[in-house]
This record gives sequence, structure tokens and C-alpha cells, in this order.
Amino acid sequence: MTLLDGKLVSEELKKQIAIEAAELLEQTGRKPHLVAILVGNDGGSETYVASKMRNCEKVGFKSSLIRYNDSVSENELLIKIQELNLDSSIDGFIVQLPLPKHINPEKVTEAIDYKKDVDGFHPINLGRMQRNLPCFLPATPFGIMLMLEFYGIVTAGKNCVVIGRSNIVGSPMSILMARNANPGNATVTLTHSKTINLKEFTLKADIIIAAIGQKNFVTADMVKDGAVVIDVGMNREISTETKSGFKLYGDVDFDNVAPKCSYITPVPGGVGLMTIVSLLKNTLSAAKKEFY
Ligand code: GUN
Repeated sequence: MTLLDGKLVSEELKKQIAIEAAELLEQTGRKPHLVAILVGNDGGSETYVASKMRNCEKVGFKSSLIRYNDSVSENELLIKIQELNLDSSIDGFIVQLPLPKHINPEKVTEAIDYKKDVDGFHPINLGRMQRNLPCFLPATPFGIMLMLEFYGIVTAGKNCVVIGRSNIVGSPMSILMARNANPGNATVTLTHSKTINLKEFTLKADIIIAAIGQKNFVTADMVKDGAVVIDVGMNREISTETKSGFKLYGDVDFDNVAPKCSYITPVPGGVGLMTIVSLLKNTLSAAKKEFY
């Protein structure tokens, strides 16, 4: 069993991003600039956004955080998005999800100029992804593809079962894995909460991508010998074991599943770190006007 080491891969990729950012600074006098909007104070979102900002600085990008409290109106947020769309000093921006219930995430996502949509959530970017055209790819699925590529894991012709059909992970993941590209070219089954007898599908899977948001959801009896298991779970639980007071659990029962796998991602230290690198890659692409 080989551990897919998000720390190792992300550090390698960040070195290259830092080199390209330095070159861009020399050529244009500008650093790539990412802005994040954070609404409310959800503990998970706070941590992820802080990490995104910190990583920007590490690779020589400029980063800015715009905070609102939970009570911000949808309209106020949409006005801010228009402002950021028009601000030529900003290469890309993200609105951290989830948003409070009174704000429609679809409206927010579509308000972002697709040319600055470094999360890759805008329907234009999703449509272009599906057509295999240059575009911003959603950060977590993109990060998983980079991880598979780094380890030279063959996906062509393999049975890939994605568990979870979220807009952020499962759904775009299924498209990327099925695309005529490398990595890609897999035979993909997108499973979800209404899937009957999930185990029947997972037992045939050469590659399992678990993005369901439930601790220990994927158990050893669901995994065939030699499978590649990618764990997207970020289930936070209160814990006295860690400095932060929280412990992160994946969607996979790691201790029992890992011995059966050819490759597996740990949580933490796997996919989460790759998500951030992908966001940095997208921001660099935006600064270079690589796609639009
Ligand atoms: N919430 C969970 N993952 C993400 C992400 O990749 N981007 C944003 N904006 N919010 C998220």
C-alpha cells in the first residue's frame, strides 16, 4: 500500500507555482492577487480560508480577505461581487461556501465573472470543463487529478466509483474522470444517497472517490483488493487530542481499508492540501490570462 502524500505533492507543486509567480512579477511588476469572501464564522470555513490566504503568501501571491457577518444581505454580497468583477487589480476571487440560508449560492456563483472564477464553480467554467476546453477546474477535483498524475496512477479504462454528487466535488469529479484526457478516460459511476446497494458498485471499483461527508462511511467490506481510494471527507469533531480542539476525519475507515488498497489518501494530509494548490494554480492561470 502506498500513501498518497498530499503534503509531498503540494509542496512540490507549490515550488513550481512560486517560480512562475516570481517570473510574472519580474515581467509585469505584479503579483497574482486572490481575494476570498468569508461570510459568518463557521469554524471549518475559517480554517480553510486562513490556509488559502497563508498559502498565497508562501508562493508570492497577494491575498485579501473580505469578511461579513452572518446577517449580510444577499444584495450587499452581490454588489461586492460586481465591484470585484470590475477591479482590475484582482485576478481571481472566491466566496467560501457554505453561505447562510438566506443567501442563494447559485445566484452568488453566477454573479462572479467566469474569468475571475478561480473556484471553477460558474456554469460557464463547468460547461467548458465538460467539453474539455481550457477553463478553471473546481479546486478539489482538480487537486485529485493532480495527485493521480503525480503518482502515475493509470485511470484509463478503469472502473471509478464516485460517492456523492455535490456541485463542489462529486459531480465535477465524475466529469473529469470520464473526460477524454489523461488522467481521465475512466468508466465512471456517480453514486449518491439514493443509490441502492452501493456496495455492489464499490466492490467493482478500481478507484473509489469518497465525497459523502460522513465519517467512516466507506468500510473494508466495500473495497476490493488493490483498489485506489481517494478520501475527500473533512468531518470535523471536537477533540482534546489536538491543539486546535478539533480532529479531522475522512469518509473512509482508514485503518481497516488501507491494508486492502494499492494507494490511499490520508485525512488530514491528503486531498485537502491538494485543493489549496489547485486554487493557487487557478489564480496563477488567471493572472497570466491563460484561459480568457
Ligand atoms: N467549501 C468547501 N470547499 C470549497 C471550495 O473549494 N471553495 C469554496 N469557495 N468553498 C468551499
